[in-house]
Amino acid sequence: MAAGAAAIGYAAVIERNWFALRRADVPVLPAGAKPLRVLHISDVHLTPGRRRLMDWIAALDRLDPDLVVNTGDSIAHPDAVPFFRNALGPLLDRPGVFVYGSNDLYSPKPKNPTRYLWRTSKAERRRQVADLPWTDLRDGMTAAGWLDANNRRGRIKAGELDIAVGGVHDSHIRRDRYNEIAGRADPTADLRLGILHSPEPRVLDRFVADGYDLLLAGHTHGGQLCLPIAGTLVTNCGIDRARARGLHRHPADGDPAGDPAGPSAWLHVSAGLGTSPWAPARFACRPEATLLTLVPKDAT
Ligand SMILES: [Fe+2]
Repeated sequence: MAAGAAAIGYAAVIERNWFALRRADVPVLPAGAKPLRVLHISDVHLTPGRRRLMDWIAALDRLDPDLVVNTGDSIAHPDAVPFFRNALGPLLDRPGVFVYGSNDLYSPKPKNPTRYLWRTSKAERRRQVADLPWTDLRDGMTAAGWLDANNRRGRIKAGELDIAVGGVHDSHIRRDRYNEIAGRADPTADLRLGILHSPEPRVLDRFVADGYDLLLAGHTHGGQLCLPIAGTLVTNCGIDRARARGLHRHPADGDPAGDPAGPSAWLHVSAGLGTSPWAPARFACRPEATLLTLVPKDAT
C-alpha cells in the first residue's frame, strides 16, 4: 500500500509537473533550404490554477521558434482562455497554426481516472452542445495572426519558407471534414504541413494521399499512464502503440496501397503537456513540448 501511495503521489505531483522539451530533426525540406524551428505544443488542458505549467510554456519563446503549432485540447475550464493566451505570451507574435481537440469544446467530466486504460473515450464525447468558450479560444489565436486550420487549408510564411497547410477538426468526435480540404497539396510550396488533433489512420492516410510531407498530431498523451519498460498501454485512438508519441513515418510500413516505395509522410505525435483535471497523473510519460528542426532531405 505504501508503494502504491508513493506511485500515485509521484504521478500526480512530481511527474505531472516535470515538463520535458523534446527535440528532433526532420529531413523534410527541399535541398538547400535553411532549417526551420517548429515548436509543437498539444493537450495543455489548461485550468487557471496551473501556474507552473503556464510559466513553463511562456519560457518556450526563448527557443526562438519560426513557427508554433498547437494541436488542440488547449483548455479544460470555462475561465482558462485568458490564462492560455497569457501562457503563450510572445509566442503569439510568431507565425502559428492550430486545430481543436474535443476538450476545447466540452468541459471535463468526473470519471475514474484509469478508465481510459480499458475503454476509449470516443463514446463519451457524443455531447452536442459545447460548453467551453472555444470561439474565444479561436479569436485569441486568430487575432494574433495564427491560422485556424479546423477543416481548412491555408498558407503560412515562416522563416524563409512558403508552407501549404491543411488541417482538420477533431476526428475523435467525428468533426473532421477532410473532404473540405481534399485535393493535392500545392507541390510548388516549400513544405506541405498537415495538422490534426487525433492521429486516426483513416485521416492520416488522406493527408498522405494528397502529398503532405509532415503531419503533426496530439491527443494520445503518449498513453499517460505507462509502464517503464513496456511503455504505452493505450493510445485512445486508431494509431498503434509504437507510434503513440514521437517522430515516425505514416504509414509505418509503406503507402496505404501496400507499396513500400509508395507515398508516406513524417508523423510527429506529441504526448502533450497536460491531463484532464479528473485524471491528474502521468506515469513513465512526462508532459512534453517538442522543438522540431526541419532540415533538407539531403541533410541526413
Ligand atoms: Fe488531450
